Amino acid sequence: MAIPTRGSSFSTPPISIFYQRQPTCSLFPKFRNLPFLSYFSLSSSLNKGYTCRSKFRALIVAMADASRPTVLVTGAGGRTGQIVHKKLKERSDQFVGRGLVRTEESKEKIGGAEDVFVGDIRDANSIGPAIEGIDALIILTSAVPKMKPGFDPSKGGRPEFYFEEGAYPEQVDWIGQKNQIDAAKAVGVKQIVLVGSMGGMNPNHPLNSLGNGNILVWKRKAEQYLADSGIPYTIIRAGGLQDKEGGIRELLVGKDDELLQTETRTIARADVAEVCIQALQYEEAKFKAFDLASKPEGTGTPTKDFKSLFSQISTRF
Ligand SMILES: NC(=O)c1ccc[n+]([C@@H]2O[C@H](COP(=O)([O-])OP(=O)(O)OC[C@H]3O[C@@H](n4cnc5c(N)ncnc54)[C@H](OP(=O)(O)O)[C@@H]3O)[C@@H](O)[C@H]2O)c1
Repeated sequence: MAIPTRGSSFSTPPISIFYQRQPTCSLFPKFRNLPFLSYFSLSSSLNKGYTCRSKFRALIVAMADASRPTVLVTGAGGRTGQIVHKKLKERSDQFVGRGLVRTEESKEKIGGAEDVFVGDIRDANSIGPAIEGIDALIILTSAVPKMKPGFDPSKGGRPEFYFEEGAYPEQVDWIGQKNQIDAAKAVGVKQIVLVGSMGGMNPNHPLNSLGNGNILVWKRKAEQYLADSGIPYTIIRAGGLQDKEGGIRELLVGKDDELLQTETRTIARADVAEVCIQALQYEEAKFKAFDLASKPEGTGTPTKDFKSLFSQISTRF
């Protein structure tokens, strides 16, 4: 929202400016009535002959911003992080969205706006500016294994993977996530949504041997750290991620990797992204950790009622 310049023409703002669906946002209950009251007191001041139109409008902008939580998504250049970032921007009536990416290239990839910060989660100092002033944090960073060169699918066998030096899951998924949680706690964040993975109940899960990284072990350790932090949290342990359209499948929540024993153990990245954002809007999503998958398209009823979805979850970890 642009700050109006001095001398710009004034028209009474539509009252809808002040009703930015706050009642559905569990992060800001205290602001529910403030804008309404302020609107009338300011309007009556104007009617009494005040002429500071630009100041008035700047105040309105500030009020509108104050009523919307500032939400930072990290890993905003990643495949799910990008979708979350886009959704936050599309819902600018509800959220002030920010992104954190690791490189300038990733920043360009998602539009290069000023509110996309560049920082490395392994270096606590570098993420400070992105975290400053946020109300909620959505963590979508992850160590990413790379395929060893020379794999020829025509010869059969399995590709081998490795992690770059310094970018093992211990550094990215443990230290890097811990850094984010600590920094967010220091600025008084009101909720953290963390996307992890199903499979963490099994220390011998094949993903742990990938590149010798023990990725699920380190992710789980970060999840535990968040759950113990005292900050309201939502831990989403996703099934196999798919680059498919969201909003057209029935979502399934579970616990303790039980969904891995069924046929329904995948989910569209777009659906995970939506659940991240919906989690900010319902008290029922707080202090919960759950597995997430979906029924195949065409079976079941596409999930629209997220309050009811979150209400089904009873597990805190
Ligand atoms: N793949 C699956 O089937 C699956 C299943 C279940 C759960 N998950 C989990 O779901 C989450 C989202 O997965 P995804 O595939 O959408 O993620 P992704 O595309 O792999 O994105 C991960 C992001 O983390 C960023 N990152 C890595 N190291 C960083 C660092 N040191 N500092 C800052 N950012 C860093 C990467 O930035 P760069 O691009 O700049 O490196 C990247 O944007 C992950 O936690 C993943 O483990 C995945």
